[in-house]
Amino acid sequence: MVKVLFVCLGNICRSPLAEGVFRELVRRAALEGRIATDSCGTQGYHVGEAPDRRACAAALERGVDIGDLRARTVKAEDFAAFDYVLAMDRGNRRDIEALRPPGSRAHLALLLDYAPELGVREVPDPYYGGWEGFERVLDMVEAGARGLLAEIRRDL
Ligand code: 4NP
Repeated sequence: MVKVLFVCLGNICRSPLAEGVFRELVRRAALEGRIATDSCGTQGYHVGEAPDRRACAAALERGVDIGDLRARTVKAEDFAAFDYVLAMDRGNRRDIEALRPPGSRAHLALLLDYAPELGVREVPDPYYGGWEGFERVLDMVEAGARGLLAEIRRDL
């Protein structure tokens, strides 16, 4: 089983969207038995909560249901449990690097490293903005999720 963890700040907007889009691609490829997903945040403001209402609605418009997801914070054990740990922005990556136990074998990257065609590395935080921010996040995480799945499939 290849295990993939998506990480943002609050785990109610970007990383649940990335997880939802990626697991939908995994499902369509009939790879649920080979690839497992989760998401978390570096901060605990929203632990236990479902994703942001706007994130849920924007995802549903694209046929992706994230209503079952619940926020949690990243923990040191995640670096042993997951093969890929994917940060949404550089701040998230810096925060999780600080938690990463020495010698951990998890592959730590920015999600958009897998979508070089976008020409941007970070998924912008949509929390304080409007609806269009969620659309943009979905466009970006779709590209990253596609590239990531292609990379993982090469090693399956
Ligand atoms: P996320 O967005 O990191 O994409 O889940 C945020 C959600 C909540 C907050 C900040 C960003 N907050 O400050 O509560």
